[in-house]
Amino acid sequence: MSKNILITGGAGFIGSHVVKLFVKNYPDYQIINLDALTYAGNLENLKEVENSPNYTFVKVDIQDAEKLDEVFRTHQITDVIHLAAESHVDRSISDPLAFVKTNVFGTVNLLNAAKKAWAEKLDEHLFYHVSTDEVYGSLHDGGFFLESTAYDPQSPYSASKAASDHFVRAYANTYKMRTVISNCSNNYGPNHFPEKLIPLCINNIKNMKPLPVYGKGENVRDWLFVKDHARAIDTVFHKGKAGETYNIGGFNEWKNIDIVRLLCQKMDEKLGRPSGTSEKLITFVKDRAGHDLRYAIDATKIQKELGWEPSLQFEEGIEITIDWYLANQDWLDHVTSGAYQDYYASHYSE
Ligand code: NAD
Ligand code: DAU
Repeated sequence: MSKNILITGGAGFIGSHVVKLFVKNYPDYQIINLDALTYAGNLENLKEVENSPNYTFVKVDIQDAEKLDEVFRTHQITDVIHLAAESHVDRSISDPLAFVKTNVFGTVNLLNAAKKAWAEKLDEHLFYHVSTDEVYGSLHDGGFFLESTAYDPQSPYSASKAASDHFVRAYANTYKMRTVISNCSNNYGPNHFPEKLIPLCINNIKNMKPLPVYGKGENVRDWLFVKDHARAIDTVFHKGKAGETYNIGGFNEWKNIDIVRLLCQKMDEKLGRPSGTSEKLITFVKDRAGHDLRYAIDATKIQKELGWEPSLQFEEGIEITIDWYLANQDWLDHVTSGAYQDYYASHYSE
């Protein structure tokens, strides 16, 4: 069946992989990528689909209710996959309000626009909200996050994502909107903005710059290759049950320090440096304020009920990721120089 799907945040890291997957795999769907192009939005991520007949980009901020109404009208939006967000925990510590504005206020604006556009036929449409495992808080004594785990967000970022999840559920309950939510663990892979741990380290190792490890590097994250997350989003969109939540993760826990060492070792091999060269760059720095100790997702529900599984082992995914960054120096140069922000003006007219 033909659909006009609004994907928000499609110029970002995960959103761009979701957009590419949907544009390529579903030629009958029209994909409308809505993104404000903040510092995290990069249209260079989408070069391979930008001329596809079933792809449209609109530069809109989800804080702008009038523009959202216009997009729903003009493109006759049938479904939403909502990824637009402020996503970096460190930035949320220095500027929490920016996270409230986009992640909470922006999400409610989007819910309102969908509710208005879909009016009496709310049951024919789907609002899919993409969220994070951080809403569940921090694990200390073993165990995993289940879909039934109580929310306990600890950072301004996770508090804003938790609030947005609550609003999505409130709209489902109050207005009978068809909604679905997924909560995913840490992603890694191509097009990851180099403020986040893995791409930051790859870039710094390449340039022989210090590798800042917060605290003792003992914090644990559960890593999933970004294209496997995009496949999971495809699965939840098409097979998920409205009103449900699905946890997405790779059963792949790593201490930060072990990841950084693995990157050092692999980069030494690939760059032909003597073993141990890059490890000397590791620098233990002041810990992140309120740093969550451990995240670990139990992804049994999506595996059993919807048949999704990660396709890659971590070591394969890391190889692909490092190789991508080494082969795409232009992408990194444009991001680090800021040149990527000129792409819109030079390729799209207002
Ligand atoms: P990202 O920061 O790379 O991209 C976010 C995108 O949203 C950017 O293109 C940005 O321009 C856009 N955006 C920001 N504010 C906007 C606004 N007000 N209006 C319109 N567009 C706006 O983020 P990401 O890492 O790709 O994460 C995408 C989504 O997935 C987020 O909702 C995040 O919470 C969630 N998530 C991320 C991870 C992860 O490991 N990165 C894991 C689980 C869930
Ligand atoms: O769990 C899902 C979340 O994963 C997403 O919801 C977020 O959007 C995403 O940014 C990510 O959050 P983290 O805070 O876990 O990711 P980050 O890459 O910033 O940090 C990973 C770990 O590495 C974390 O324990 C902090 C640590 N770290 C991070 C940076 C940037 C360092 O030790 N040094 C660093 O320089």
